[in-house]
Amino acid sequence: TNKTFTMIKPDAVLDGNSGAIIKMIEAAGFRVVALKKTQLTPERAGEFYAVHKERPFYNDLCAYMSSGPIVPIILEKENAVADFRTLIGATNPANAEDGTIRKLFAKSIEANAIHGSDSDENAAIEGSFFFAHTEQF
Ligand code: GTP
Ligand code: MG
Repeated sequence: TNKTFTMIKPDAVLDGNSGAIIKMIEAAGFRVVALKKTQLTPERAGEFYAVHKERPFYNDLCAYMSSGPIVPIILEKENAVADFRTLIGATNPANAEDGTIRKLFAKSIEANAIHGSDSDENAAIEGSFFFAHTEQF
């Protein structure tokens, strides 16, 4: 599809960088389909990141992702998933290209400012984790 899902993570929301990040996303040609501010419980963060449950960083990741507010967003653009991952840059900000959102705003490999879906299938699953169809425009 032409949609992807993103979430501005607690570090970036608490630092007041949500507006600057959304501005970069829109300037790169993405259209906002759905957006809100919310907070995950540790249990719900665990559900969102269930694919990572065998990874050594899973418990830390769930604690971090439930530590403060997040801004989940559904986005639309041609080639959305791949183009959005290019815009955010590498998982570890030390490896992220200049001009990417993670290079500009991420603090560490864990507190890396923003999420981006890794496939069309996961974009649909992750978007529906946060938004009803009646909230998508
Ligand atoms: P997302 O867009 O958030 O899914 O990031 P990604 O696809 O670039 O990375 P991945 O799906 O492999 O990991 C999910 C998230 O787990 C990352 O965004 C980080 O927040 C965190 N993470 C990944 N690798 C590590 C690690 O080695 N240590 C820690 N503490 N956290 C990690
Ligand atoms: Mg991922």
